[in-house]
Amino acid sequence: MFLSKDEEKLLESDNYTIRKCMEILVAIGKIFDADRLIEIKSAQVSGISYDNIGDAGVEWLESLNAKVKVPTLCNPAGMDLIRWREMGIDEDFYEKQMRVINALKELGVSMSLTCTPYYLVETNYGDHLAWAESSAIVYANSVIGARTNRESGITALASAIIGKTPNYGLHIKENRAPDVRVIVDKEIDPAIAGYETGRIVEDKIPFVEFKKKPNSDGLKAFGAALAASGGSPMFHAKEITPEWEDFEIPSEKIVIDGLKQENCEPDLIAIGCPHLSKEELKVVYDLLSKMGRVKRTLWIFTSRNIVQENKELVKKIESLGAKVFSDTCMVVSPATRRFECVMTNSGKALEYLPKTKNVRAIFGNLRECIEVATK
Ligand code: F3S
Repeated sequence: MFLSKDEEKLLESDNYTIRKCMEILVAIGKIFDADRLIEIKSAQVSGISYDNIGDAGVEWLESLNAKVKVPTLCNPAGMDLIRWREMGIDEDFYEKQMRVINALKELGVSMSLTCTPYYLVETNYGDHLAWAESSAIVYANSVIGARTNRESGITALASAIIGKTPNYGLHIKENRAPDVRVIVDKEIDPAIAGYETGRIVEDKIPFVEFKKKPNSDGLKAFGAALAASGGSPMFHAKEITPEWEDFEIPSEKIVIDGLKQENCEPDLIAIGCPHLSKEELKVVYDLLSKMGRVKRTLWIFTSRNIVQENKELVKKIESLGAKVFSDTCMVVSPATRRFECVMTNSGKALEYLPKTKNVRAIFGNLRECIEVATK
């Protein structure tokens, strides 16, 4: 892999953090046959919940000593930084999580604490990024047409500190071609279409034909579920996504027509995976105001930024009995473990809640979730 004189110097830097970050990028570049490093517009670091990172991760973050070179955001943490007690988080977890937060702040990472960085940092077609949250990666690649590989928390942070990433994988146009054609035959919820597609295509890139075209929130839900039940880093959607006409349509074809699931009686209804947009928050309020007060536990997750910009709306939603939490989500917070059955409108949460929190999960679309919450 070609390195400029300046890049070579970083490999011999007196600063341990910079030297290690550079070594990580060069090692990844060599593994994947990258020809060089390329500049990135932004980075996004995942895996920052203390529930995931543990003591070793906290100590490692605290040992770093450098500043990020590009706008760098971070994924949700294990708790709402302000309302953690209402989630049932204990003092010990709070303190450990705050050490993670403070270590990231020291590095210059912005406390976005959201999996929807594209609402916060300007991201355009063709931009090179180093993002680590799988749902945001799919959204950036597919819906925006920006370019990022599926980074880990560590490689995203290394890229943030160096300001570059190795040029391989989805940074190169020809690697973005679809492998399999997917027909979403019925008007099924995009989250379920994504969940079922991911299970079949695994990490291939699908070219998707929707019977009913989803809006951007639908594409967000589709991509998040696709990346969770499979491992695909992007999709093309016919007549919707920016690169859908740039490649040949694959001959291998599969048809998606819905989900069969077992039932359970939900003691938690959880919405906001990925974090809700302003528009989705409005839809939640409209549904709640028609259906009445919440009678079970209804948790809604969005970014602090969206909450701050929509304080009145959030107040109205909470006056009907729901809780709107920021900085965290039902999958990365340990708070979800105390429930037995979670109903969610997220294909990603449907995949991860049983695996990571050992709780049963059932799917309902947004209307069904609000109906059950108010019943
Ligand atoms: Fe976001 Fe948490 Fe879902 S990070 S995509 S809300 S699992």
